Amino acid sequence: MALIEIRDLKIHYPIRSGFFNRVTDHVLAVDGINFDIEEGETYGLIGESGSGKSTTGKAIVGLEKATSGQILYKGEDVTKPRNRKKLQYNRDVQMIFQDSLSSLNPKKRIKDIIAEPIRNFEHLAPADETKRVQELLDIVGMPADAMYKYPHEFSGGQRQRIGIARAVSTNPKLIVADEPVSALDLSVQAQVLNFMKEIQKEFNISYLFISHDLGVVKHMCRNMAIMTRGRFVEVGTREDIYQHPQHIYTQRLLSAIPKITPASRMIDKSNRKRVEALYQEESSKYYGPDGKVLDLKQVSPTHSVAIQDPVVEGGQS
Ligand SMILES: Nc1ncnc2c1ncn2[C@@H]1O[C@H](COP(=O)(O)OP(=O)(O)OP(=O)(O)O)[C@@H](O)[C@H]1O
Ligand SMILES: [Mg+2]
Repeated sequence: MALIEIRDLKIHYPIRSGFFNRVTDHVLAVDGINFDIEEGETYGLIGESGSGKSTTGKAIVGLEKATSGQILYKGEDVTKPRNRKKLQYNRDVQMIFQDSLSSLNPKKRIKDIIAEPIRNFEHLAPADETKRVQELLDIVGMPADAMYKYPHEFSGGQRQRIGIARAVSTNPKLIVADEPVSALDLSVQAQVLNFMKEIQKEFNISYLFISHDLGVVKHMCRNMAIMTRGRFVEVGTREDIYQHPQHIYTQRLLSAIPKITPASRMIDKSNRKRVEALYQEESSKYYGPDGKVLDLKQVSPTHSVAIQDPVVEGGQS
């Protein structure tokens, strides 16, 4: 059994309008997605802006209510508050946000920021709490005196490490990391990602790693889903997605990864043009008449694609 199983999850936001402020329509932010995250695994959730990634992450940590579907944690449905309490779900599942400046309270010292989740769940004596905060800062490579400072006194990368220390303070089993490095420079990105990996190994944490950047996800995740318009267009292993992408949306995202050498940049440019033209021409093959992403079809034991006639891998159809 996977640590967490998402079953046909939907999150629809009502749109209200008119004099009576009636609900006239819905934004289908998440519209029927399924995936599992194993213990100690990093699962990638990739898509462009507005595709429903953050809404999915927020629903998993309980910041957003599911319209329908299930979120199973250790086999029990945690969309039901009773189960969440029983399983200590709010303690076991934490979140890291993209924007560390607005997600860390500017008026609080680092010590209080990091200790807040601990205070919610444990009653430590002040000296023990200080010791624990010190250990957590050490885990993310920050000096102990950082605890007496305020968020604005740190760089973006340091703040993100403080966010990680806060998230791991309750010894969580799962961390939803929503674009954790998107706001950082490339060199700082690598540093923060390495911390995340080290912590994962040490504490056997699972991550839901949310990103719009296929380049970053490649280094973090063995399994992943590509999302657009609230649905998954392609699901598979790293190899399935990067070596054998079948959905035009995935191909388009892949062609947008910047290349390093000038020669590969030239090939890249023509490839990007080709994929873009294909996307415009053939989108009817990939989406329903109403623009909805089609249902996923399995093309190998690990790989599924949302197209009408996918190429079945491994020879058998
Ligand atoms: N509270 C809300 N009320 C109404 N619509 C919302 C709300 N939150 C999000 N949405 C809509 O749901 C859709 C998905 O939003 P979401 O924030 O999940 O996207 P995202 O994939 O995280 O995008 P980004 O990469 O920009 O962070 C968008 O169309 C957004 O406008
Ligand atoms: Mg988002």
